[in-house]
Amino acid sequence: MENKILVTYSSQAGSTAGVAEAIGKTLSESGVGVDVLPMKNVKDLSAYQAVVAGSAIHGQKWLPEAMAFMHEHQAELSRKPFASFMVCITLSMANADQYRDGLKDWMRPVRELVRPVSEGYFAGVLDFSRLPISFNTLSMRLAVLFGIWKESDHRDWIAIRNWAENLKPWLIK
Ligand SMILES: Cc1cc2nc3c(=O)[nH]c(=O)nc-3n(C[C@H](O)[C@H](O)[C@H](O)COP(=O)(O)O)c2cc1C
Repeated sequence: MENKILVTYSSQAGSTAGVAEAIGKTLSESGVGVDVLPMKNVKDLSAYQAVVAGSAIHGQKWLPEAMAFMHEHQAELSRKPFASFMVCITLSMANADQYRDGLKDWMRPVRELVRPVSEGYFAGVLDFSRLPISFNTLSMRLAVLFGIWKESDHRDWIAIRNWAENLKPWLIK
């Protein structure tokens, strides 16, 4: 096993990829080797001493690809330090704090497969120019129309970097 960390992600429109890159950059500042890869490009975890995995949220869930990754690699992930994160739009709301506890439920299916040393919850991006027109995105357009969500990049880079910084003692031995 090499002395390397994997940061892997599932993203539809790219914002979760950006969060993963920021996490990877913060971890790599300690001098440890870090690969940041989409889950579809990860076949084998044996090269990694620790894994950070994250997904965009659709319908209050990690993307199906991300849950498939967890099922496929459950045994190996259970033997390594593992941290998980999610990127969603609920956390961009002005009253997001009242939803924070409830959001932990959305990570439950992940936690039931592999217990993370830490869980990261981040606001993402709503940009309809990057999304297909579908029933699901239509309901999101309505939510914007009614002022529930705002179309914008809500990523809080300081919160993301702080979380990654706090992971170091767990992941880097
Ligand atoms: C079809 C669809 C469903 C979504 N469902 C939720 C949801 O249930 N809760 C939430 O907080 N955000 C939801 N979002 C917002 C996304 O999680 C957010 O835009 C995120 O930044 C997308 O990540 P990505 O750019 O990596 O795909 C949804 C977005 C889309 C397009």
